[in-house]
Amino acid sequence: MAEEHRDIAIDFAMALGGLAIVEKDDVFQVSYPLDHSTQLILSELKTYIQDLDPAANLVQSVVDYENWNKNWQAFFKPTPITEQLIVLPEWESPDDFPHPIKIRIRPAMAFGTGTHETTQLCLEILDDQILGAERVLDVGTGSGILGITALLKGAAQVDALENDPFTEENISDNLELNGIHSGFNLQITETPLLNSPYDLMVVNIIKARLFPILPSYFDSVRTAGKVIVSGLLLTEDQETRELLSQSPWKILKTFTKNEWIAYLCEVK
Ligand SMILES: C[S@@+](CC[C@H](N)C(=O)[O-])C[C@H]1O[C@@H](n2cnc3c(N)ncnc32)[C@H](O)[C@@H]1O
Repeated sequence: MAEEHRDIAIDFAMALGGLAIVEKDDVFQVSYPLDHSTQLILSELKTYIQDLDPAANLVQSVVDYENWNKNWQAFFKPTPITEQLIVLPEWESPDDFPHPIKIRIRPAMAFGTGTHETTQLCLEILDDQILGAERVLDVGTGSGILGITALLKGAAQVDALENDPFTEENISDNLELNGIHSGFNLQITETPLLNSPYDLMVVNIIKARLFPILPSYFDSVRTAGKVIVSGLLLTEDQETRELLSQSPWKILKTFTKNEWIAYLCEVK
């Protein structure tokens, strides 16, 4: 699919409930659980993509667990984020990489392998902002990758919020893979209980789902604490700034990668 359409298509595919996205060259692969609504979702996606890019080639298949893993091995490679930090698929040997912080991920039905720009932007900012002993709020935890990174970097505690029950098993596998046995408190719910104020909050959710919930987190972080907001396209910058201007969060810096933008804010 043509590059200028790809991120828009991925955004739409995720908004339809896509659980896992992998990208390689000009191909992207999105997965949905197989249930009564799968055909409806796929036909909506097909119509949208054909309108967007009539030349796009669409392939649909049902994968069993073994092939699912093989697919992942073709797409999911070690992903260095900074000189300090690298994301590794579970089948790679950590000893082969010099980075002091190695986040190990089992790819599954949850977003957050570190291969997507929105995750990479959060990881890059977290690498700089976690200094040790922080209380962190991770909203839309997916695979758990951001909360796990915060703990590996020395945060004291992570409250991780997710509304998709399909992520739970993957989060638990990833905690195990990274040797994390305490400090990660997961709530799978639409109505989380917060232990505010936090020192740092990170959220990586696409606009359609983020904007309705973001104001309910405006008071979750202490004065002078930090907030990382990701999941937004560059074309959504103006609207995002307008929403953030209604919050007590002042934008300190923006970070971009391809079509995506993330915001590092400080609480006034
Ligand atoms: C783009 S993924 C980010 C995953 C991971 N944090 C990362 O950065 O790779 C967004 C996640 O937010 C979750 N999510 C969407 N709306 C949510 C909400 N209202 N409350 C909690 N989680 C939500 C989705 O299920 C998905 O797992």
